[in-house]
Amino acid sequence: MLKINTIKELQIVLDQARSQGKTIGLVPTMGALHKGHASLVRRSVSQTDFTVVSDFVNPTQFNDKNDLKNYPRTLDADCALLEKEGAHVLFAPSVEEMYPEPDMRQFDFTPLDKVMEGIHRPGHFNGVAQIVSKLFYAVKPDFAYFGEKDFQQLAIIRRMVEQLGLDVEIVGCPIVREEDGMALSSRNALLSKADRKIAANISKVLFNSRVYAKDHSLAQTEQYVVDTINSIQGLEVEYYEIVDGTTLQRVRTWDDSHYIVGCITVHCGGVRLIDNIKYKE
Ligand code: PAF
Repeated sequence: MLKINTIKELQIVLDQARSQGKTIGLVPTMGALHKGHASLVRRSVSQTDFTVVSDFVNPTQFNDKNDLKNYPRTLDADCALLEKEGAHVLFAPSVEEMYPEPDMRQFDFTPLDKVMEGIHRPGHFNGVAQIVSKLFYAVKPDFAYFGEKDFQQLAIIRRMVEQLGLDVEIVGCPIVREEDGMALSSRNALLSKADRKIAANISKVLFNSRVYAKDHSLAQTEQYVVDTINSIQGLEVEYYEIVDGTTLQRVRTWDDSHYIVGCITVHCGGVRLIDNIKYKE
């Protein structure tokens, strides 16, 4: 696996791969790689000829300086995981390389970015769109892989590709969970052992809510999730919204859409955790 830090060098390698007729897969990450990322890389390696994984903690998508400072960074372990999964290039640029000057672009993904994370993390999706579009321009991938754990992000990236008219197929990949149901996330590494145990209740309640939903209204189900999680010491729900899986707008009844997803953000031991569950698809 090649380790590359500059766009120029990356493009030389990619031009060569393309001239050999190879298709390119891109897996954008912020590092601190885990089994969830490994599943994206595996998918790219099986579907394309040449897989680039970017490893870059993007400052413009953090609306909280401490969150940026504390974000886990594990480049050596990331390299080992990527070698094992068969990635061809690890692209780990500096902040100066990706932002030689401030990125003043303002994206508007209304209504997708006006709900949930869009409200609770102002500017977050603008930063995500800035870096992902820069990566798409630099790599020109045929396919790009994103996890469904960041459900809203995936919808927004699909929309950005449409808006910018980019020729890349976005591949959404299922959430990877630990044995106890906890969705894999780089942020899980920031939890204490005790909090990690408590946090497993988030997915448990979400899965239980699918059973509860069978004979309860949508509003009752939303309330059930919020109340049950908030009743567990150490967990605090920031929001739980049951939405149409395409528009991300709230639905009022189970008959309002054929694709219904519940998206949650919960605080546990100072760590902000997100997860989601499909009720109908
Ligand atoms: O999902 C992430 O890890 C990041 O938001 C992404 C897509 C790599 C952009 O920095």
